[in-house]
Amino acid sequence: MEKRDSFGSKFGVLVAMAGSAVGLGNLWRFPYLVGENGGAIFIIIYLVFVFLIGLPLMINEFVIGRRSQANVFGAFKTLCKDKSSLWGKVGIISVLCSLTILSFYCVVGGWTIDYLFRSISLQFTADTNYEQMFAESSAHVFRPLISTCIFLFFTALVVVLGVKKGIEKYSKIMMPLLILMIIAISIRSMLLSGAKEGIDFLFKPDFSKLTGQTVMAALGQAFFSLSIGCGTIITYASYVKKEEHIINDSFYTVVADFSFALLAGLAIMPAVFAFNTSPSEGPGLVYITLPHIFAQIPAGGMLAIIFFFILLFAALTSSISLLEVVVAFLIEEFHLKRTSAVILSVAVSAGLGVLCSLSMGLLKEWTIAGFTIFDCLDKLSANILLPLGGLLFVLFAGWKIPKADYYDELSNSGTVHVKPWLMKSIRFIIKYVAPVVILVILIVGLLPKQ
Ligand code: PHE
Repeated sequence: MEKRDSFGSKFGVLVAMAGSAVGLGNLWRFPYLVGENGGAIFIIIYLVFVFLIGLPLMINEFVIGRRSQANVFGAFKTLCKDKSSLWGKVGIISVLCSLTILSFYCVVGGWTIDYLFRSISLQFTADTNYEQMFAESSAHVFRPLISTCIFLFFTALVVVLGVKKGIEKYSKIMMPLLILMIIAISIRSMLLSGAKEGIDFLFKPDFSKLTGQTVMAALGQAFFSLSIGCGTIITYASYVKKEEHIINDSFYTVVADFSFALLAGLAIMPAVFAFNTSPSEGPGLVYITLPHIFAQIPAGGMLAIIFFFILLFAALTSSISLLEVVVAFLIEEFHLKRTSAVILSVAVSAGLGVLCSLSMGLLKEWTIAGFTIFDCLDKLSANILLPLGGLLFVLFAGWKIPKADYYDELSNSGTVHVKPWLMKSIRFIIKYVAPVVILVILIVGLLPKQ
């Protein structure tokens, strides 16, 4: 088998991790969830989950990945001492979960390509019917399928090149550019007259809006946005060198992701309120409400191009990480060549993606508990599969990986100084706090609503 690829530099690790985390979750999902779940109160709960649960879970995935130096399936197989135990097979759930997410992620990525094209060809005019435009881009039979395949093609192109020459190189160029662009757009948005109401919506909590649903949505979003719970971080961390300080890397990744989500909120909400539109439009917020607003702002055409450019390239850095989970699994467990592994995984994702895409139109009637296939996959993966995956990871690490090994990995075999209280707290959260919190929220979230 070929030698394992690895990241070439610290900066490379950080941009690749942040690239995986920052994506549609920040720019498409976060703003519409904030809108649907009462604004600031959702952000506060989200912030608590991101740092209390998300950060330790990310560190935990780093530990599992770097210690095992293997794909997510191989990681559990390697670290599980008892070869007959089911724990050694847990990684397969993560591979399937990544495929599931990729199959609806590429559909949204496809809409984004469509919208970038529409913004470049100046289709956002004051008298356009944006509901109809979105329906055409999402519910049409062929149009979204073509853009979904183009999106998958670009994803595959980077993954075929491998970790250092593909993923790392691409992330190094894109991430700094995306950060500069989102800062520019949020400043422009905050300067609109009437923007203050939108800023208040983001930062002044209304506690009466707090419900069990808000809490579950916030936890799901923390998992989805940080890319934790489905083995992406485990896979990327397996390419991280032994000298890397994994606690620092995790912290920077989480801060980058949270800041990007806030910037996305600041780019979108002030504009939504300044134009008296509703923030609770759901998944259509970015595709229906925003273009309508862009059409009315001076230089809005340019802003629209920049926005959909950011959305597309942020989505690509994330879909690349999802694909890499499956590809690394196929290469290491079935000894496939990288190119064949990429072709096979993309073909399966495209097949599932077609179903997802058609469920916006032709297959709208195919529902489970009232949800279309697309909604099912979106909600199922973020609110159930990822937290469940995260729960398995913490139970495994907390109860199956010996404490000494865990601390050894956190401190690079004692070569970096990590305060003992910090290591103890991380281990305590992983062993006791995170499993209880995740389990309670999952159970409460799944109880039938009165
Ligand atoms: N974190 C990505 C985003 O915010 C989505 C993702 C989820 C990527 C899970 C990998 C794993 O868009």
